Amino acid sequence: MYSQAKVIAGGLAHIPVVIAVFYFILTTFNKRALKFVGESKIKKPESKAVEPKKPAVSKSENSKIEAPKMETSKVVKKKHADVPVNIYRPKTPFEGTVIENYSLLKEGAIGRVNHITFDLKDSDPFLNYVEGQSIGIMPAGEDANGKPHKLRLYSIASTRHGDDFNGNTVSLCVRQLQYEKDGETINGVCSTYLCDIKPGDKVKITGPVGKEMLLPEEEDANIVMLATGTGIAPMRAYLRRMFEPTEKEKNKWNFKGKAWLFMGAPKSSNLLYEEDLQRYLGDNPDNFKYTKAISREQQNTKGGRMYIQDRVLESANELFNMIEDEKTHIYLCGLKGMEPGIDEAMTKAAEEKGLNWSELRPQLKKAGRWHVETY
Ligand code: FAD
Ligand code: A2P
Repeated sequence: MYSQAKVIAGGLAHIPVVIAVFYFILTTFNKRALKFVGESKIKKPESKAVEPKKPAVSKSENSKIEAPKMETSKVVKKKHADVPVNIYRPKTPFEGTVIENYSLLKEGAIGRVNHITFDLKDSDPFLNYVEGQSIGIMPAGEDANGKPHKLRLYSIASTRHGDDFNGNTVSLCVRQLQYEKDGETINGVCSTYLCDIKPGDKVKITGPVGKEMLLPEEEDANIVMLATGTGIAPMRAYLRRMFEPTEKEKNKWNFKGKAWLFMGAPKSSNLLYEEDLQRYLGDNPDNFKYTKAISREQQNTKGGRMYIQDRVLESANELFNMIEDEKTHIYLCGLKGMEPGIDEAMTKAAEEKGLNWSELRPQLKKAGRWHVETY
């Protein structure tokens, strides 16, 4: 016979065993639960728009560094993590050599717009980039305070393979900034420097930067491009990637979607890369559409200057049929001032289709299908 005290003592003696068993069950369950959450994070689908990027040309082991600032420790891969950024920074820019610098304008055009190509082959690490990115240019000389000029950004106008397809160059499309102040003509510092440089000159280059204007990787994506002036720069790179025969051989990207360029220029003689665009049209009538708004030669329905937003309105139905397709991306580049006009036109165009642009635009943005770079 056990006494009451013995029974209590015996019961108490089992408590550590019960706690140990309970602890074992709890930790085992927790580990499995954590493992499940972790796995579900890893398995989270990545953005569709990423194209696995390799340096166009490997110069050395160093040249394989594509994004030095990237955090590799994160379990979830960052969006567009493979896209190179900031290989060169303002404190240690790369000095590129000018290969060519020529006017893109025809007789009678307004202002000065040049196509400028730099040699990158001596960069180490190699300054590689992808279509839709920008580079920084640090103009020679000093500002009014005796400090070196700050860098200015320029959209890259070439594909990653460069204009000569050897993967060693980068090209820009630069308008010289000029305006009148107190009866005096003021020339922009960097744009004038760039328009004046000569083949053989050395230029300080930083970057590449920017992930806003990257192309989707899907070959059947539709690409709507709204450009004013030098806003054509990234579009020129996209269109070369899609339609330039030698570039296509290099990139193995067989574009099968529809590309539609809306281009705004003040005069016909100011249209940029026109011969190439006409050639792409001739060769790809089913995949390329090109709509011009020549502001000082054409009039909109109200008798004012024809802007790309007026062309957007004219094509509202067709354009929104495309936008309703989730494979369609829209790219806007050029004058900052065009943004409200484009928004207004998209609002009206959407209304005609019974859609609400102020709701639709954030959705497109969130889905990574609305890309804007204006300046
Ligand atoms: P600055 O000497 O810096 O003068 C500019 C300043 O002048 C302005 O800040 C303003 O204070 C003043 N100013 C300008 N206009 C007027 C006016 N009408 N009246 C009074 N004051 C005025 N440019 C291109 O040509 N091609 C490109 O592809 C391109 N891509 C770009 C991409 C990005 C992401 C960004 C941010 C900009 C891009 N730019 C591009 C613009 C470029 O970076 C420069 O801003 C432009 O070349 C002018 O620089 P600047 O040094 O010549 O002018
Ligand atoms: P405009 O200058 O006749 O008013 P560029 O950079 O070669 O000057 O070309 C820019 C083009 O964009 C020009 O045709 C210019 O017209 C046009 N533009 C100017 N302001 C706007 C605006 N707010 N919205 C759309 N296009 C514009």
